[in-house]
Amino acid sequence: MNADCEAVRQAAMEEIDALEDLRALEESRVRFLGRKGRIAALMRLLGETSPEDRPALGKAINEVKEALTSALEARKQELEARDLAARAAAEAVDLSLPGRRPRQGHMHVINQVIDDIVGIFVELGFQVAAGPDVETEYYNFDSLNTPSDHPARDSHDTFFVKPGVVLRTHTSPVQMRVMERTQPPVAIVVPGRTYRVDNDASHSPMFYQIEGLLVDHGVTFADLKGTLALFVRRFFGPDTKARFRPHFFPFTEPSAEMDISCSVCRGAGCRVCKHSGWLEILGCGMVHPNVFGYAGYDYETYTGYAFGMGVDRIAMLRHAISSISFLYENDVRFLEQF
Ligand code: DAH
Repeated sequence: MNADCEAVRQAAMEEIDALEDLRALEESRVRFLGRKGRIAALMRLLGETSPEDRPALGKAINEVKEALTSALEARKQELEARDLAARAAAEAVDLSLPGRRPRQGHMHVINQVIDDIVGIFVELGFQVAAGPDVETEYYNFDSLNTPSDHPARDSHDTFFVKPGVVLRTHTSPVQMRVMERTQPPVAIVVPGRTYRVDNDASHSPMFYQIEGLLVDHGVTFADLKGTLALFVRRFFGPDTKARFRPHFFPFTEPSAEMDISCSVCRGAGCRVCKHSGWLEILGCGMVHPNVFGYAGYDYETYTGYAFGMGVDRIAMLRHAISSISFLYENDVRFLEQF
């Protein structure tokens, strides 16, 4: 009978030594110590044993049982310690490593330029206005003295949304939207997106403009020149010169384009200004009486000036950016430079 006990002990010890995880250990425990386990089987033998042999056998079984219990417990602690060590190694944090800085974003270069330009006019008393990107042909063209057969419309290469509705080709329609709901004096600047069917190194199908409009009693071309000359000195630097060239726009009369002395070569002539020493940066003029007619303003009482500039071009000049596409590709290596 002690031989049976010894066999169970032997088998159990070998198995326990070989256990590699806690689940297998639990299975072993059930197999040996469980209600239907091998120790229980030994206990049943007690009944068939003669009374004089019984105490010795009982003692032997108890010893095996205790030996197994403590062997299982010891192995369990080993396995738990091993698991814990493995987890600690896997989740270890090296507190001596330098931290990783969170990446910080900043304003896009276009928005920086818009803020700077608008800020200058706001200081002069202009208010900021806005209008829809999807615009009617009436506001984008007709009410700005540009009827459907007008040659100036060709140069705009318009995206049509549906008949009568376009993506605005300039910010000028906001002039009309504001005048319709406001009586003079009016002094606004309008930064916004504009759209034209155009795509090359200096044109993007979506681009930005800033519109300006000032209407009051007795506004003259001299006011326009003075205000814009001040603007360019503030924005491009105090030495910047401005010149006005006669031009044509349907919504202003007279009209002009304004050039500034080349910010790259300071007038000496370079590739950027095509060796002319001058850079064209905006269109402007005195508001056409017909435009006042559409707005419901009396052109005998009021006069006004307007201007419109391309933000992308100005940003490119300011930062010597060679292609407009850089502004819209959102390559962080590019954007981080500003
Ligand atoms: N809207 C014109 C354009 O997109 C720019 C412009 C010229 C705006 C003269 C004006 C202006 O307000 O008076 O090319």
